[in-house]
Amino acid sequence: MTRVVAHRGNSWVAPQNTLAAFEAAARGGAHCIELDVQLTSDGHVVVIHDDTLDATTTGSGWLKDTTLAEVRDLDAGSWFSPAYAGQRVPLLDEVIELLLRHPSLDLLCEVKGEWTPDEAVRVTRPLRAAGLADRVVVQSFWPGTVGALRTADPDLRRGLLLGDVGPDVLGLCAALDVVMANPHGLLLQQDPSLVARLHDAGLRVAVWTLDEPTDWAAAVALGVDEIITDRPDHLAGWLAGGAV
Ligand code: G3P
Ligand code: CA
Repeated sequence: MTRVVAHRGNSWVAPQNTLAAFEAAARGGAHCIELDVQLTSDGHVVVIHDDTLDATTTGSGWLKDTTLAEVRDLDAGSWFSPAYAGQRVPLLDEVIELLLRHPSLDLLCEVKGEWTPDEAVRVTRPLRAAGLADRVVVQSFWPGTVGALRTADPDLRRGLLLGDVGPDVLGLCAALDVVMANPHGLLLQQDPSLVARLHDAGLRVAVWTLDEPTDWAAAVALGVDEIITDRPDHLAGWLAGGAV
């Protein structure tokens, strides 16, 4: 069965990386939500994709120069629609509460940028303390951050995001001891053998970010385990319809 991963929540119908988008994903049939975490200037873990505030909030400037109190004052919904005015940049702790309310919803947690092990603990510790370890994969594009996540909690499952595929991608995955390698969709078009090679190495594969049925069909035909999509409700319906 191909699993449906909601990219930044159900970001087709609600503002990305908000509690509204995660709730819509859960109600729309997603198996898992994907989100992005970063640190505020005072070291709190918040859920936001960009390293600046401009695109998805009423604020501006760098997140790393902004305190949690300042971030929490911002509106993260009205840029998308007035109907979502009042949505906030979520705390990781709020997403954990949502996951506990939806016991069948898993989490693919992307850690953006370079993190130290001490910083990575701020992500791994609350997830483990909430009893979510078997429902979570933490992932990053940055190998050093994946290594930091490993130091922070060696037994919490990890993934490596692949924006490109280097000659020793399997060696890198082995060195980081990841359970998933998650490629951009174009990489599967360039190298249709990639999924099989990753599977042969014992890795699960979640491809990103596919929003159209033709791309879903190609990914399913290649045997991907999970599809990360902005349209999780559509993908869930498409899969349930037995198109493949
Ligand atoms: O999880 C895969 C995908 O989210 C990576 O790209 O830029 O949407 O975070 P981006
Ligand atoms: Ca992401």
